[in-house]
Amino acid sequence: MIEYEKDAIVQPYVTEYIRSEIRENIGILAELEQYASEHEVPIVQPETAKLLEVLTAAKQPHNILEIGTAIGYSAILMSEICPEARITTLEFDGDMASLARDNVARAGLSEKIEVIFADARDYISYIDRDGYYDMIFIDGPKAHYVYMIDDCMRLLKKSGVMICDNVLYKGMTCTDELVIRRKITIVKRLRKFIKAISERDDMVTSVLSVGDGVTVSVKLK
Ligand SMILES: C[S@@+](CC[C@H](N)C(=O)[O-])C[C@H]1O[C@@H](n2cnc3c(N)ncnc32)[C@H](O)[C@@H]1O
Repeated sequence: MIEYEKDAIVQPYVTEYIRSEIRENIGILAELEQYASEHEVPIVQPETAKLLEVLTAAKQPHNILEIGTAIGYSAILMSEICPEARITTLEFDGDMASLARDNVARAGLSEKIEVIFADARDYISYIDRDGYYDMIFIDGPKAHYVYMIDDCMRLLKKSGVMICDNVLYKGMTCTDELVIRRKITIVKRLRKFIKAISERDDMVTSVLSVGDGVTVSVKLK
């Protein structure tokens, strides 16, 4: 199990309790958790992983777009809970993308998960698949979430679900008191992002204090 983060947004005793009730993964997911912990690769926190599994299982998406693959952990997690889904996942670090491809192959999921080595900021503006994705999981460049909203909404099917991780960013999004100077731009943009998606009338959004903060939005029209 991944270690509890000291600067988490939820009281430690709450997180510890929630995590104590999460069944430990086995197989490749357990291996990847171990690898991520040893190599300091950021992957979704256990309670965020569980939320992602629940939303994926409820939505039963045919097509998922993920922004931010890292070693392929969350892509494999979604694929295991919804084997029918086709997942396209974008990663702009070449080494990470090839490691993710290896992991996906080891999991026997190469037919279902396509890892694309690309900068999502440009790539999503070129994808010619309007209304194609049932689910979009954004877990990459936090400073650019705000600039990705229009493209993600274009790519999302009506009633599609958009999930974004790390939106409360260790609490810094919520209060200036926690903001570290060198993170100010990211924090300002995350605030803009939450404001923008909360104000849109073509989607409905819930901001959850799960993990490092997650938004869950549904496209209404
Ligand atoms: C938090 S990690 C993703 C973790 C992964 N979703 C998981 O839980 O297993 C964020 C990843 O996004 C990638 N990333 C950051 N900016 C990106 C961009 N503009 N385009 C594509 N990938 C990006 C980083 O290289 C990093 O591997």
